[in-house]
Amino acid sequence: MMKRLAILGSTGSIGQSTLSIVEQFPERYSVATLAAGRNVDEAFAQAAKWRPKLISLATEELAGELTARLKAAGVSGVEVAHGTAGTVACATYKDADFVVSAIVGVVGLEATHAAILAGRPVGLANKECMVAAGEILTRAARERNVPILPIDSEHNAVHQCMRVGAHSEVKFIWLTASGGPFRKLPREEFEHITPEQALKHPTWVMGRRITIDSATMLNKGLEVIEACRLFDVPASQVRVTVHPQSTVHSLVEYVDGSILAQISVTDMRLPILYALAYPERPQSTLTFDLTQLKHLDFEEPDLVRFPCLRLSYEAAAKGGAHCIALNAADEIAVEAFLDRRIGFNGIPRTIEEVLSRTPESHPETIAEVLRVDEESRARARELTRS
Ligand SMILES: NC(=O)c1ccc[n+]([C@@H]2O[C@H](COP(=O)([O-])OP(=O)(O)OC[C@H]3O[C@@H](n4cnc5c(N)ncnc54)[C@H](OP(=O)(O)O)[C@@H]3O)[C@@H](O)[C@H]2O)c1
Repeated sequence: MMKRLAILGSTGSIGQSTLSIVEQFPERYSVATLAAGRNVDEAFAQAAKWRPKLISLATEELAGELTARLKAAGVSGVEVAHGTAGTVACATYKDADFVVSAIVGVVGLEATHAAILAGRPVGLANKECMVAAGEILTRAARERNVPILPIDSEHNAVHQCMRVGAHSEVKFIWLTASGGPFRKLPREEFEHITPEQALKHPTWVMGRRITIDSATMLNKGLEVIEACRLFDVPASQVRVTVHPQSTVHSLVEYVDGSILAQISVTDMRLPILYALAYPERPQSTLTFDLTQLKHLDFEEPDLVRFPCLRLSYEAAAKGGAHCIALNAADEIAVEAFLDRRIGFNGIPRTIEEVLSRTPESHPETIAEVLRVDEESRARARELTRS
């Protein structure tokens, strides 16, 4: 049966990879709605090519610009919306059967929540919304029997490895980390890392925030929290191993001593296709040549050189507001680092300071989550103002 997709974050790295899957499997997938942020050129090109019923941009002004360009190009039948209401409308559009949540940051939270409330299965790339509001999202999904299928490659791998055993039989979830570009850099040189150096990821091509988060290993910390929420396990059951080849995407260790791993190409189209097609496995060209594999290395992560991972485990243990603050403070700190207002070590320093000022609480609603998020951002902005 044809699945009609709502793609939130269509102009981003995951969004564009999702569209390439639609292009490859036209008999399986079509585009119902698209939501983007500020990239009007790409949104225009996508609207003209895919003719979604509805497309949304971040602001009214940008939506107006897109409307004018579509009109001038003679493209009709594409409704244009904007802001959070526009993203929510895309996620809950009546003709959409499946929502790909790939906006970066908590700005995608309300639409992801709305998709679940509307009973739409979600392919989840946006880890920040799982970190900030995972308890609320997974509860809503359980109550409505809505599947949340992870697109993040590690969680996608875990999802695959979990298909063969019972939840009660899982001893550890092992998330693999490439270690980023600074895996071997001595600690005293971290202060001099530039945005250009941090933006070069050794194995994956991704958006800017997640690339910096990979360099600080905060990304892995967010993934630990995401795994706790998606797979309903405590942080003590989620372990990180540095695996520089990024070939094993993650592993699940069972109580009998068996460890199952998922291996595939480092190409996000594979986990996207898995999520879209689940529980089927369509034939694809995304093959991995096992004969070329020379060695697989696994190392302990260094929590001293990468304090963001330690901070993430501490936030995971507290849950609630601390996870929200971790994500919010990082988003502001990454922006400040990219703007050269703080150094690389300023990222964990800012997060640690914001976490220490965050009172323990467990928000029950999305509105409360967003309030804590905003307070944490304000604290982080104060600390990173130059
Ligand atoms: N890339 C990967 O390989 C990868 C792997 C695993 C998980 N993820 C996760 O997937 C998510 C997306 O990552 P990415 O790498 O694709 O990021 P990206 O390339 O930076 O794309 C982000 C997307 O979010 C949109 N966006 C930003 N602000 C918005 C707003 N206010 N309203 C609506 N849309 C907005 C952007 O639109 P504009 O560009 O038009 O502004 C863009 O489409 C992140 O949560 C990331 O952690 C990514």
